[in-house]
Amino acid sequence: MKKLVLVFMAALAVSCGENKKEEKPGMKIGTQVEEKTTPVEATTDSDSKEAVVTLEGNDQMKFNKSEIRVKAGQKVKLTLKHVGKMDKAVMGHNWALLTKDADMAAVGQASATAADTDYIPADMKDKFIAHTKMLGGGESDTIEFEAPSEPGTYTFMCTFPGHYALMQGKFIVE
Ligand code: CO
Repeated sequence: MKKLVLVFMAALAVSCGENKKEEKPGMKIGTQVEEKTTPVEATTDSDSKEAVVTLEGNDQMKFNKSEIRVKAGQKVKLTLKHVGKMDKAVMGHNWALLTKDADMAAVGQASATAADTDYIPADMKDKFIAHTKMLGGGESDTIEFEAPSEPGTYTFMCTFPGHYALMQGKFIVE
């Protein structure tokens, strides 16, 4: 690979230095030019189209972010990492985004008795826009979803029993 790049750089130097007026010699190495420019375009693309969010939960029952901002309707790729060591049964964390009309305390209370369904209450599924799996120390989960099309402030929380008191934040759709 390094050799290829060197050859490519040399070819570029030659074409830039000596053939400024001639566009065509440069075009002949078109395939290599594409290899160089495509990754840059991909990065720009994902920046504008997809919001990549990473957040952590720890053994102190805290998220490391209290606010997440995205654009209306934007694709969101969110990763939650449990950076603690405690077991899922005692210090479980998930990341759940609630609908605008959801009552966080009501969802939190219903979730507390929903151990069988990973603390996502079956009868309140319509209050969740998206959620990760419940994680224990050292685990992580990545989800992809579409941000709401309606701008405003939404609530995210951990639905493990009692955690929403500390583990909650604002999901702001601009
Ligand atoms: Co939690």
